[in-house]
Amino acid sequence: MDVIRTKAALRAQVAAWQRGGETVALTPTMGAIHEGHLSLVRLGLERAERCVATIFVNPRQFGPNEDFETYPRDEERDLAKFRSAGCDAVYVPDPGEMYAAGYKTEVTVHEISEVMEGASRPGFFTGVATVVSKLLIQSLPDIAIFGEKDFQQLTVIRTMARDLDLPIEILGAPTVREADGLALSSRNAYLDPKQRDIAPALHRAMIAASEAVHAGADPRVAAAKAREDVLAAGFDEAIYIDIRDQDSFALAETQAENLRIFAAARLGDCRLIDNLGI
Ligand code: PAF
Repeated sequence: MDVIRTKAALRAQVAAWQRGGETVALTPTMGAIHEGHLSLVRLGLERAERCVATIFVNPRQFGPNEDFETYPRDEERDLAKFRSAGCDAVYVPDPGEMYAAGYKTEVTVHEISEVMEGASRPGFFTGVATVVSKLLIQSLPDIAIFGEKDFQQLTVIRTMARDLDLPIEILGAPTVREADGLALSSRNAYLDPKQRDIAPALHRAMIAASEAVHAGADPRVAAAKAREDVLAAGFDEAIYIDIRDQDSFALAETQAENLRIFAAARLGDCRLIDNLGI
C-alpha cells in the first residue's frame, strides 16, 4: 500500500491505473479509522479495481469552538487498518498541500446546507464541499464513497458534484452500527462509560418515531416524542430531531413517501448524529 503525500503523485498514480484499464474508488476520511470507514473501502473494492483512501483533518470544516485541535490523530494505526482492508494507496496531504498560502476559494451548496447540521454548525458544509471538491479534482477517481451516517453531507456532496459537472459517481454506503444500535463514529471515543450506556437511546428513539409514522402518526408529533425520549434517557440536549423529505430536506408536515428521520443530540461534550429512512 502506497502512502502518497502530494497531489501530483496522487493524480499520477490514479491516472496510471486508469490508463491500464482499471477503475478507481476514492474514500475520503479524517482518520480515526473504524469499521465504518473500512466498510467504505470494502465497497470501493467491490465497485472498482483500486481503492484510494484519504486522511486529512480539514481545518475548514471545524467551528472556532469545535474539536479540531483534539480530533483523534494516529497515522500509523490508521494506515495499518487501511492496509488490512486491502486499500491500494492512502493520500495523506499536509495542510499546506491542501491550502497553499494565499488560498481564497470556497464551495458552497445553498439551501440544503442551511438546515440541521448547517444550522447548528455554521460554515461546516462549505468546509466539507470545499475540501471534497479539491480531493475529487486532485485525484479524478471513477467513484467516491461516503457513509450514509452523514446523510446530509452525502446529499450536499452529490449536489456539489452534479452542479460542478465532476465526472465522478458519488456512492452512499450503509451506516455501520454497534450491536446495541449506536452508529459507529470517530467521536464515539469521547464518550465515558456512563454516556456510552445512554448513547444507543438515540437510535431507539429514532426507530420508535419511524414505527409511529408507519402506524399513521403525524411526523411532527413522532419527532417531538423522539426529542422527549432522548432527554428522558439522559442526553443533555436534543439539538434537532426532525422528520424531513430525504432529498429536499423540507420538514414533513403530513404522512408522505421518501421521509427520513435526522437527529443530532449532545451527551456531555460529545455531539452524536444519526439518521434512518422511514
Ligand atoms: O465525513 C468526513 O470524515 C469528512 O467530512 C470528509 C468527507 C472526509 C471531508 O473532510
